[in-house]
Amino acid sequence: MFDRAVQLKAEYRGATLRETPPLAGRTIAMLFQRPSLRTRVTFEAGMNQLGGHAIYLTEDVVMGARESVRDVARNLERFVDAIVARTGPHAVVTELAAQAAIPVINALTLREHPCQALADIFTLRERHGSLDRLVLTFVGDGNNVYHSLALLGGALGMEVRLAHPPGYGPNASIVERARQLAAAGGGRLEFFEDPTEAVRGANVVYTDAWTSMGQEAEAEERRDAFSGYRVDTALLDAAGPDAVVMHCLPAHRGEEITSEVMDGPRSIIWDQSENRLHVQKALLVELLAGTVAEE
Ligand code: CP
Ligand code: NVA
Repeated sequence: MFDRAVQLKAEYRGATLRETPPLAGRTIAMLFQRPSLRTRVTFEAGMNQLGGHAIYLTEDVVMGARESVRDVARNLERFVDAIVARTGPHAVVTELAAQAAIPVINALTLREHPCQALADIFTLRERHGSLDRLVLTFVGDGNNVYHSLALLGGALGMEVRLAHPPGYGPNASIVERARQLAAAGGGRLEFFEDPTEAVRGANVVYTDAWTSMGQEAEAEERRDAFSGYRVDTALLDAAGPDAVVMHCLPAHRGEEITSEVMDGPRSIIWDQSENRLHVQKALLVELLAGTVAEE
């Protein structure tokens, strides 16, 4: 899939138009219960670039309010080729996947953000060639973005570290699964409380919002808990001169990351954002090309 993303990115940058776009005539439905800039625009633009179409649906028409998740799935599978869903509870995405006979792509739940991790790790592969033994330190909340980085990074041979304040650690079942994948893929997981210790020798320092979507009521207590977990120049220096910084965005400048770091020469944040487009296009082609029923 990463190789396909390399090819699609080159085609896009070179403005190469294929005579027959790979997803001509295909449609995806995008069910979003949470706001989005990157995920929405990259899936919509991506489908368009592949010759297909995306329909964006918001909470008022989807997922349990107007009709059940099951009934939404049973309708959509008759109309479109895949569903891209961003929900709060992870169970809504798994229910959609269980009920619909078409692919369902997780576009972020409170538990996981796999499309983000795919783009991030693709970005590191682009820079480093190999992912083997690359060290990524995530500084902040052990939730969705960290979970997906741990699952994928470990499986692909990386060392994925996490520095989090007490009480904001990862989900135990995800860690167990990520450890299994890492054992099979040559990677490893490490945990720290002290961010400075955690970044020592890291190739990548990664951070994310202290308060994720849906947790707004906890914002104040989270600001206190995470105040020692800011990625600033001093922390990046502690990682080493070649370390780069990543953030899935949206960023809260002055909270989890400083503007100096975000806009500085060691930031690869905009590259990872750009790569959402190409990796998701590769995913869509993987899932949808050649799936038109023959009968
Ligand atoms: N990183 C990310 O998923 O951004 P959006 O929430 O804007 O889609
Ligand atoms: N952890 C963040 C990621 C946003 C892309 C959230 O869930 O809001």
